Amino acid sequence: MSQLIKLGRDGDVAIITIDNPPVNALSPGVPEGIRSSIEAVAKDPLVRAVVVIGAGSTFIAGADIHEFGKMTSGEKPFGTLLPFLLAIEDSPKPVVMAIHGQALGGGLETAMAGHYRVLAPSAQVGQPEVKLGIIPGAGGTQRLPRLAGVAKAVEMCAFGEPIKAQEALSLGIADRIIEGDLLAGAVALAREAADRHAPKTRDRNEKLADPDPAIFAAARDRVRRTWRGQPAPLAAIEAVEASTRISFEDGCRFEAKLFGECLVSPQSKALIHAFFGERTVNKIPDIPKSTPVYEIRRAAVIGAGTMGGGIAMNYANAGIPVIVKEATQDALDRGIAIIRKNYANSVQKGRFSQAYMDERMALITPQLSYDGFEQADIVVEAVFEGMALKKKIFAEIDAIAKPSCILASNTSTLDIDEIASATKRPQMVIGHHFFSPANVMRLMEVVRGKATGKDVIATSMALAKRFKKVAVLAGNCRGFIGNRMLGPYGREAQFLLEEGASVEDVNQTIYDFGFAMGPLAVFDLAGLDVGWRIRKEFKHLERPGVRVPLISDRLCELGRFGQKTGRGYSRYDENRKPLPDPETAPLIEQIAREAGIERRVIGKEEIIDRCVFALVNEGARLLGEGIALRAVDIDIVYLYGYGFPAWRGGPMFYADTFGLDRVLARVREFEARHGSDFWSPAPLLEQLAKAGRTFASYDRVQ
Ligand code: CAA
Repeated sequence: MSQLIKLGRDGDVAIITIDNPPVNALSPGVPEGIRSSIEAVAKDPLVRAVVVIGAGSTFIAGADIHEFGKMTSGEKPFGTLLPFLLAIEDSPKPVVMAIHGQALGGGLETAMAGHYRVLAPSAQVGQPEVKLGIIPGAGGTQRLPRLAGVAKAVEMCAFGEPIKAQEALSLGIADRIIEGDLLAGAVALAREAADRHAPKTRDRNEKLADPDPAIFAAARDRVRRTWRGQPAPLAAIEAVEASTRISFEDGCRFEAKLFGECLVSPQSKALIHAFFGERTVNKIPDIPKSTPVYEIRRAAVIGAGTMGGGIAMNYANAGIPVIVKEATQDALDRGIAIIRKNYANSVQKGRFSQAYMDERMALITPQLSYDGFEQADIVVEAVFEGMALKKKIFAEIDAIAKPSCILASNTSTLDIDEIASATKRPQMVIGHHFFSPANVMRLMEVVRGKATGKDVIATSMALAKRFKKVAVLAGNCRGFIGNRMLGPYGREAQFLLEEGASVEDVNQTIYDFGFAMGPLAVFDLAGLDVGWRIRKEFKHLERPGVRVPLISDRLCELGRFGQKTGRGYSRYDENRKPLPDPETAPLIEQIAREAGIERRVIGKEEIIDRCVFALVNEGARLLGEGIALRAVDIDIVYLYGYGFPAWRGGPMFYADTFGLDRVLARVREFEARHGSDFWSPAPLLEQLAKAGRTFASYDRVQ
């Protein structure tokens, strides 16, 4: 008997416990162990029924994702879970699946192979495989419609969102919800069922009859809008649709074929990279898990602008009382009104109740003074990007805050060490760089100054988890990881305009590559004046005779700050829909003429390579300098903060897939044409390309 599976007994009910921490994935030994227990139980005359339950925090989180690489390399065959699930379903003694935590992917598929399912009230079930670029591969697309009906199965398999216990019960996925002792409830049902005919999910065909074809058409339409560039969700719909036309066995064969095709796709490799990357970024080599953290019970935010308001919402949403301080009553009222409007919109969309909104609003205390700051465990500064102002504020809060209070800056570019120098506690100073809108975007860059304490970093990473955000640790440099890379990306987007591409060419090509938005559309959204202000701050660093992008500043001089003024690179209608601006092209031509830049026809490949390899080359530099801990940290910053397509895995993963030798060759071509000021290859890129290596291999050695 495998150590991963324990077989026990409660009178006449056998209890099979899966014990494969941390999440009871179906790793080698788990399915085999369950199967041999089921077979042993079938022969045991003392046993009349069976309960399968998970030890620890969850039932089964699915197939072991680490194993997929072995399948794509041919080391391990696909489809080994199917016969294991048939063996459960064919058990002559009824099997009750007792689910707490999650039953996801192969976990739900295992549960559906049982004859009955009982759920803890907080349990969730789902088929999230599409998020990994695959589809359910162990009969999920065939058994789920038989239990939940075709429409819900399409939705769950194609969009991957889990559902809660109550919904699972009403759909017929669960038979009972057990308040209190789950195992006792499952054993009780097993005993009741012992002498009954055990229903096999695969034989329950009633819900498959006459599905409305509109279900599939509507789902395909939604997939094309929301999962651009990804084949798996369409494959999931196809597989569920097949369940309504062909037998269970043929349906499983069809599902297995589509599963295999998805698993070997580049999209799946990239999404699996992102899945593990999201978890890797939390691991900081010199900060062990045991590092003590400060308790954060009260917070204060300085600045009630777009960022400050969004940051305060994170604290309120995490149940932490937060003071929001502004300099003037007007600004304070405006900021609080926006927070209220954001919450009200969510209530209107049904995301949460009015009571939830009222509780969150009650946690937010707007004020003009520093009253109560002495009790705060963390103060977050979120004012304009100006060093002098930030230093003034840090000196003020240093004088008021208790010694154990963390002082965080939401700066997106400025030197954390210089900010810390305004205080007597540089070890308590850290960057918490949120992304706009801060209550929505999942990325938080945590910026480590040279004196920042390890406990302050550990607290920040833990705080991000409370905010349900993904935190990435960055070293201190201008722009940290995300915005430092954005510099060359934005520069190339503007240079391409000066050299002959149109605003629409650049935006559309980058959008078609898979980014959420084109670069110039992003700048219009963020506000061109933000960059303008930062560039003025760093004007002294400009090198004489070195080309600088000219268009953004010219647009700002004309009062065209982007969406907020209705015009920037594009024009915006009252619904903020971008429209080509007839005045932009002549303006760009004039700027190019004045600067003596020769204009030409620029193709899509050049637009992509110049924008994306500008990111990669700067990313390689950040990695070489140790600003980013690993290439995957850079990928996660770009996936969660900058709209890089998840199915391409992030800029560094994309470069690995493209081939670093080919990336280097392209960078050298651009260097020859546009000069070393912009395109000298990062030493690490050269080194890895020369050695035939990848960024991923560099991460493994670190
Ligand atoms: N396989 C392997 N490892 C897994 C895993 C899986 N299915 N699910 C989670 N893990 C690992 C994580 O990588 C992490 O490892 P480290 O501690 O080494 O970083 C650890 O388990 C804990 O995971 P989380 O940090 O995510 O823990 P959490 O409590 O925040 O979330 C969870 C738990 C909701 C189950 C979440 O881990 C999750 O969503 N997991 C993936 C679920 C999934 O996609 N299942 C489908 C798999 S594919 C499949 O099943 C195909 C099929 O049809 C057969």
